[in-house]
This record gives sequence, structure tokens and C-alpha cells, in this order.
Amino acid sequence: MNLSISQSPNLPKRTGLETIAKTLEQGPLRLLDPLEQEIFQLRLEQGWEDVLRPLRLLYGARSDFETWLNRFLEITAKAYAARPSDLRHLDLQRVHQPDWFQRPDMVGYVAYTERFAQDLPGVQDKIPYLKELGVTYLHLMPLLKPRPGANDGGYAVMDYRQVRDDLGTMADLSDLASHLRQNGISLCIDLVCNHTAKEHTWAQAALQGDPDYQAYYLMFPDRALPDEYEKTVREIFPEFKSGSFTYYEQINQWVWTTFNEFQWDLNYANPAVFAEMLDIMLFLANQGVELLRLDAVAFMWKRLGTDCENQPEAHAILQAFRALSRMAAPGLLLKAEAIVPPPQLVPYLGVGEATDKECEIAYHNVLMVTLWSALAERKVVLATHVLQKMPRIPARTAWVTYVRCHDDIGWAITEEDAAGVGLDGFAHRSFLSDFYTGRFAGTFARGATFQFNPQTNDRRVNGSCASLAGLEIAIAKENWGAAEQAIRRILLLYSVIFAFGGIPLIYMGDEIGLLNDRSYVDDPDLMADSRWIHRPYMDWDKAAERYNWQTITGRLFQSICHLVAARKRTLTLHARTAVTPVWTHNDQVLGLVRESAYGRLLILANFSEQHQTVSRRRLQELGFGGLLINRLDEQFIPPWQDLDLEPYQSHWLAPVV
Ligand code: GLC
Repeated sequence: MNLSISQSPNLPKRTGLETIAKTLEQGPLRLLDPLEQEIFQLRLEQGWEDVLRPLRLLYGARSDFETWLNRFLEITAKAYAARPSDLRHLDLQRVHQPDWFQRPDMVGYVAYTERFAQDLPGVQDKIPYLKELGVTYLHLMPLLKPRPGANDGGYAVMDYRQVRDDLGTMADLSDLASHLRQNGISLCIDLVCNHTAKEHTWAQAALQGDPDYQAYYLMFPDRALPDEYEKTVREIFPEFKSGSFTYYEQINQWVWTTFNEFQWDLNYANPAVFAEMLDIMLFLANQGVELLRLDAVAFMWKRLGTDCENQPEAHAILQAFRALSRMAAPGLLLKAEAIVPPPQLVPYLGVGEATDKECEIAYHNVLMVTLWSALAERKVVLATHVLQKMPRIPARTAWVTYVRCHDDIGWAITEEDAAGVGLDGFAHRSFLSDFYTGRFAGTFARGATFQFNPQTNDRRVNGSCASLAGLEIAIAKENWGAAEQAIRRILLLYSVIFAFGGIPLIYMGDEIGLLNDRSYVDDPDLMADSRWIHRPYMDWDKAAERYNWQTITGRLFQSICHLVAARKRTLTLHARTAVTPVWTHNDQVLGLVRESAYGRLLILANFSEQHQTVSRRRLQELGFGGLLINRLDEQFIPPWQDLDLEPYQSHWLAPVV
């Protein structure tokens, strides 16, 4: 093997690439055939700098850096050696088609296994339903073994190598992943990497006083440092508990618990934690999971005097995960769940030196928030302003766009952005909370308040897409005109997330208009958390009405299928195509221009219940002056008239060349 990259200057001589390569060849890789060995060595050579850069930032100052570096690479090489042959084949496919997740035929679906199909084998039976919708990516909500009792919807994991008992086994998960793959669907699951349940064996050992495991978490013998930290960190679940630390008498320590008391934040300053999580990540990849949703990544590194979110080291952890997982399982994609304001969000897709070297995909919570804001205001000014200011993302990354998810909507609109369009941030956020929780006179929405914080007056909002868009009130009042408007609002939001760029997610039940479900209040483990209001059980009886256009279910389901079909045939929607929000000179109509070698597309979306017009002149100025075709229905739009949009209508317009 002829390895050309020279030794890294900051490392002692024997930690050079060649030495490591040799050790791995004689160690974890020794049973592989020469070609497979060579493939790993090539990836090692190519990814070497990408591995070193973030790891140096994290652990470079330690005297045992070299030992840890070897350990991380050994874990990686072992996972590579253990990778099943069908997944090696997948890796090859992905490497040869690196834009697979950016293509317009990508459409995601998000569901709780038990609420969608009872258990993992049950999900296999629902594959035909997913295919009907055109789904190519399935995110099953947390399914690794959680702590018993309340577990934050599965985000308090006690064993990452086991599946939740009632859902099946790890073998069922692998089996499902492979069946999905055979049907063109990639499986995504959560990896809760910021914290474990306090019932995890590491936490249990820590509670028994084991100092090695206590170092896996952030523990303080008194309140001195917690008090200092609490001066600057925000409270995530103020209704569940106050502060970010919990006292445990058994060990006489304050433990860092950002979320619930039972979720202990991991200490990534300890390389042993990084090694464990890397091993788990690659283990899950080898089960056939193709995408990992990395939970709460913004919180992974703490620094005194800051809000302890989005620290450079949190990014370095992700970059190192990515560089190492690329060597063992290049088919695996990492998805960042960082629900943070616009300036902090884009770096999760990689900036500067880390361009294209962090997560491949990330949730676009800013788009989600500003769309709901526009719907309440019947105005797109804030959305246009905020989205215009967001920098472009690296070419080999993509957003994950969504209307609703399992979490609340937090009004992540900064003072500066609100002021930029003449709004008062505080007042606007209060308006949105009031609007979506039914406090605002004349609102169409029915939602619930979540985590009211009296100190900041912050009120987050829960509710299903259909209920927030007006369907619940309309049905309760048997007002079919209002129901029609609600349907149009749902489809409007979906048409924007389908065209914005990236992987659009359909949140289970939205496709058939499932309303808020209040049954969670009867379950003692769920009753305190109103996010369960929008985590309903799939209503398969209702779904059976999906072929009947006369029903609300039929209208929604078929229209969403129609959007999926339109998306799949519109190459311009490839995620590599830049998206530019534009002023349409009509404050009710959102405009997005998509532009690349694939062509140009103008997306127009009317956020009001009135007819709206975009003038021909404006279309000309935007470069859409000639004959246009609406990609949603393939109808031509003649060049001599202003463009009319019906209430809540959207168009995807391409010039006819
Ligand atoms: C993420 C999850 C949320 C959970 C939190 C803590 O934000 O989406 O549901 O409560 O992390 O794990």
C-alpha cells in the first residue's frame, strides 16, 4: 500500500497515517480480502485530514490524544469489517450517486411505529401505503429501548443496542430496513446523542459512585458552577422543572439535565463518550439504518459564560462523526436536529473549512416557523426577509423541510429580523402564540400552549397541522366553507415545503387531516406533555376514504399525491438548485426562485383567503416574462396577463423555452 499523505505536523511521528494504516491492516481489517482492505485504506487516506481537524480541536491538547485517535480509528475499522455485504453494496451505490438524497424524487414520512403500525413487523405491511404516497424515506420516531415510564417520547434511551420491547427486536429492525430498501425507502431513526436516560448502565454505574462513569456526565459537587452556568443558559422545559441541573443525594452531586430530570447530558469533553457514541452510531448503521437523526446536537458542548448551545466543539463532534462514519459506512447520512435561530442553523450543514463536511441534512425550522407566521398574518413579508438573509448551504447538503413534527412550534424569530420588517419581536411572537392557541379573536387555529415561561413570556404551541390550519374548528362548527379554506391552507404549506429545496417530510396523519388528539391526558406517563396532542394514532378507517374525492381525507390525500408526482417530475427542484426568496410586490404572495443548470422555476404561494395578483411586469422583472407552464398541473399560462392566484393557491412556474 502506497500512502501519500505525509504525517500531520502536530502529531508525534508514530501517529502518522502510515503507522495507523498498518496497525489497522494487521488488526481489525486482517480477515478482509485485499480489495476490501484497500478500500478502507483509501478512505482513510482521503478522510485523514477531515478526521484530524475536528478531533484536534476537541482532544488535541490531551497528552493521550494519540491513544484516543487510534481508538476511534480502531472502532471505525471494526465496524467497516463487520459491515454486511448488502450494505457494502449500498455504500457503493451511494458513493456513485452522491446526490441521491438531493433529488426531487425524495419524499419523507415520519411516524411513531406503534401509532402507525403497532410494531416493526407491522410497518412492513404498510409499505404499500407508503409507496402509494411516493415515500422514499421513512423516519420512525425513537424506537431504541427507553427508560420505563415517562421517557420524553423515547428520547430517554437506556440501551442503544436494543429495540423497545413492544416494537420488536434489533433483528426486526434490520429486517425492516432491508425490506424498505428493497422498496426504495431509506430508514431513518433517532440517535439521542446529547443525553442518556438516567437508567442507562453508564448512568447507573455513575450513581454507584464509579468515577470513570461519573466522567461520562457533567457532575458538580455544589451549586457554585451550576449557578454560574444558569446565568446564561436557557431553560428548555420550564414547566417540567426549573434550571438545568438536578441534585442526586445518593452521590451528592448536581447533574446537568438540560431537558427532563431523567435525561442526563453526556460529557463529550471526555473522549470515552465520543468513542461510545461512535461505536453505537456505526452499530446502527450496520443494522441497515441509512439516516441518523442526531437529537439536540446544539447542546453537546458546554462553555461557561455562553448559552451552551452551538459551540464550535459541538460542530467539531459532528464533523468527526461524519468523517469517521464515511470510512466505515459512507451510505450513512447524518441529520442535525438543531432548533436554533437562522444564523446558528446553517453551520450544521458545514461552513468554512467544514463546508460539506458536517451533517448532510438539517431541519429547516426557520422555514417552518415563518410559514406558520405568514399564515396567521396573511402576509409573507417576514418570511421573505428572514429567508432572504439566510446564506446558501453547501452544494452537497440539503434541508429537511417540514410543516409539522412531533415537537412544539417555538417562535424562533429574532428581535433583529422582526425589526427588519417593522415588527416588534416580542409582540409578534405573542401574537403568534395567541393566534395558534385560540386566544386571538377570529383565529382559525386550535392549538395548545406548551412550556409557558413567565420570565420571558415565551409560549410555544402544540397542535396538529390540520387543527392549526383551521380544520378542527371548521368541522366542529360544520362550516364547510371554512373546512375548504383549511384544506387549502394545509396544501399551501405542503406545496411550499415540497418546492423549497431538500427533503420534504409528511408528518403522519397530515395526509388525511388528522386533528388534535386529546386522549394523552388519560395516560399518566404522557399527561404532563401536551406535545402528545399532535402525536395521534393512525386512523386507518379514515385512511380507507382516501380514494373518495368527496371526503376531506380524499381531497387531502390525493392532492398530496399530486404534489409528490409534480415534485418528482420537476428536475429544477433538485436540492442543489439554489433557492432565492423574491419580493412579488404583493405582500400576500410568497415568491421563491429556483435556479440552476436544470432550469428556472418560480414558486408563488398566496397566503391569504382572497384572490391575489402578481403583475406581469413583476414577472418580467423576475425573468418569467414569456410563456409559462405551471408544473403543478402542466397548464400553460399565457404571457400577456397578470397572474391570478386563487385563495391559498400556489403555482410552480417554469418558462417554456
Ligand atoms: C429533541 C426532540 C424532543 C426532545 C428533546 C430532548 O428536541 O425532538 O422531542 O424532547 O430533543 O431529547
